[in-house]
Amino acid sequence: MSAVCAIDFGTSNSAIAIPRDEGVQLVDLEAGQRTMPTAVFYAVEGLAAFEEPHCYYGRAAVAAYVEGHEGRLMRSMKSILGSTLPDQATDVGGGRSVRYLEVVGGYLRHLKAMAEREAGQALRRVVLGRPVFFVDDDPQRDAAAQSALERAAREVGFEEIHFQYEPIAAALDFESRVQREQLVLVADIGGGTSDFSLVRVGPQRRRHIDRRDDILANHGVHTAGTDFDRQIELAAILPTCGYRAIGPRGREVPSKVYFDLATWHLINTVYAPARVLELQQMQAFYPDHHQHARLLALVRQRLGHGLIGLAEAAKIAVAQGGETAIDLALLEPGLQVTLNEEDAIGAVSNDLDRIIAAADATLAQAGVASGRVDALYFTGGSTGLRPLTERIAARFPGAQVARGDRFASVAQGLGLHARRVFA
Ligand SMILES: Nc1ncnc2c1ncn2[C@@H]1O[C@H](COP(=O)(O)OP(=O)(O)OP(=O)(O)O)[C@@H](O)[C@H]1O
Ligand SMILES: [Mg+2]
Repeated sequence: MSAVCAIDFGTSNSAIAIPRDEGVQLVDLEAGQRTMPTAVFYAVEGLAAFEEPHCYYGRAAVAAYVEGHEGRLMRSMKSILGSTLPDQATDVGGGRSVRYLEVVGGYLRHLKAMAEREAGQALRRVVLGRPVFFVDDDPQRDAAAQSALERAAREVGFEEIHFQYEPIAAALDFESRVQREQLVLVADIGGGTSDFSLVRVGPQRRRHIDRRDDILANHGVHTAGTDFDRQIELAAILPTCGYRAIGPRGREVPSKVYFDLATWHLINTVYAPARVLELQQMQAFYPDHHQHARLLALVRQRLGHGLIGLAEAAKIAVAQGGETAIDLALLEPGLQVTLNEEDAIGAVSNDLDRIIAAADATLAQAGVASGRVDALYFTGGSTGLRPLTERIAARFPGAQVARGDRFASVAQGLGLHARRVFA
């Protein structure tokens, strides 16, 4: 059994599972942690040889970046799979470039190596999780995204590859604990996607390998936690740097730079010398020269990733209510802003509407009335956001709310599926 593994390659966090005779084991990836940030840091030092020690993964990657090592941090790699980027090269510093797909491959290779060390043998068969849609409303690009992920997996030595939908995996995890047959709506709300599946689960059904008939509907949207971070940064942090400010001639300050700064894979474009020069010359657009000075501090010190991190931390701090201070001393000594739950919810309200609409669409697709849903299974990091789960639960007054391990249940379920498909 242990020549088989399952990978939850998430937008924000990933995990790798090994089916065991009894249950599924999640591999420890970093000192006692069974999930790790989907992040790679390419350190410039020694990059000529481009060898493993100069690539950092997970928390170590984020730490190397935060500590100010020279190099390039790559995150949210999953969200580029459906674009034209995978085969494009990107500069990682020190005069080196790598294809985006190699970044994904390097990360998968790292997970595989960790799991092989645990299993004591080579792992060549894998179940990979996938969102319901990598790309919304574009089946061709969606298929391209899956095949890009498959290519990356082959390049690192996986030979037999199966895909399973992430919310179905979560349903399998939920099912491993149910005592009676029920209709469950799984809501897997992570970093990049919000996925819903309506699934019949039960002790008798666990034994079946082909579960197609038990999957009543499967639907999702490309809106989740990283979108919330972006909106919160735009609403609460970037106005201090002039976003949406009205300049002396009554015109709004050009906003593109702020959108780029709030989007992971575009942040680097703002640091290009020509772009910094252009921003430097724009002081006349600003009503308040402090805003312009903070923007320049932001780009000169390359604080783009750091600010998204602050927005994310503030979001999590108010996810169950209350308020929090965001310390912006790096932009200007003594500067800070406050975020309360109401501001946060206001900033993400369009996103929340889209996610609720996807839950409704899942039921409509199955032609099932909401009253027939027995259970709601919440998983994925963003289900920590109370107003979101409350709004979903309100749509299903008769359903019991169940929660598993928000960060591990997809990997657990993929592991269960791996055991069955490779048996
Ligand atoms: N307590 C919390 N409250 C709200 N959001 C949270 C909390 N903890 C983590 N998050 C958010 O959860 C998201 C990550 O969730 P998760 O690890 O499930 O995503 P993922 O599996 O990597 O993404 P996806 O499945 O969409 O590819 C991040 O956006 C993070 O900010
Ligand atoms: Mg996930």
